[in-house]
Amino acid sequence: MRGTRLSQSPGGGVTELPPAVLTVVGTGMKLVSQLTAEAREAIRDADVLLHATQTPGMGEWLARMNARSVDLTQYYEPGRDRWVTYRMMVDRALAELDGGRRVCAAFYGHAGVYVTPSHDLIRRARSAGYVSEMLPGISAEDCLFADLGVDPGRHGWQSYDATPFLVYRPDFDTSAGLVLWQLDALGHRDYQPRHERSNYEILSRVLGERYGADHVVTGYHAAQYPGVEPLIAEIEIADLAAHEGMSTLYVPPNMQRPADRDMLRELGLIES
Ligand SMILES: C[S@@+](CC[C@H](N)C(=O)[O-])C[C@H]1O[C@@H](n2cnc3c(N)ncnc32)[C@H](O)[C@@H]1O
Repeated sequence: MRGTRLSQSPGGGVTELPPAVLTVVGTGMKLVSQLTAEAREAIRDADVLLHATQTPGMGEWLARMNARSVDLTQYYEPGRDRWVTYRMMVDRALAELDGGRRVCAAFYGHAGVYVTPSHDLIRRARSAGYVSEMLPGISAEDCLFADLGVDPGRHGWQSYDATPFLVYRPDFDTSAGLVLWQLDALGHRDYQPRHERSNYEILSRVLGERYGADHVVTGYHAAQYPGVEPLIAEIEIADLAAHEGMSTLYVPPNMQRPADRDMLRELGLIES
């Protein structure tokens, strides 16, 4: 796998660390072109490559990069609880580690962003004593910032899986941007081979209560190939249920908070 790993101290010194036997990587959203150099190296050099990507063609490309590759999406089955599938994926990776092999596990986007098995795998591998690391990748949200021209630092940012967003009713802030993920599985625990829209009416009602039914939101689908444009659909909250093929939703703020003048004074940003 990749060469020497070093830890840096704040004083500038470096210490050599043992090499990782498990490396979890993200493959980005677009076919091959968003793969980082370090992820590519980890994919190529592993004894066995386990992968779960959605980008058409990516599985085939990965299999050419590493002759010992296993497609983890084989564990998805219609009607099977997704958490059972995730456990099967993690068990498979741990079995490879137990067999003495250096493993690379590749997930699309950023492997640590809205991916349950990647974090479970790192946790379980570390508790079994395997040196493990996760390398960052380019997520759907990274692509959204670029494609929609939205900067999370401008008004603040909130990011939720759409189902827990409905179930736990967090106290979200309509003066900050909001992104909702996994609309394609809204309200479902089991794997949905086709885009599932039956609960969009509920989401439309809940968002409408806080933003107003005529607030315009953006359905977003990042391009999966270089040179291809993303799908961007602006739609009023009231019409969400009629919208097709949306997996990620961006809800812009609908109000601006006034500055706290006492705080401005305390910070010395205005004269008292
Ligand atoms: C299991 S999560 C995987 C996220 C991925 N690891 C990432 O870094 O973006 C699946 C969710 O990611 C989002 N997603 C996946 N592909 C997308 C795309 N091409 N454009 C926009 N969002 C996408 C959707 O919200 C989808 O329900």
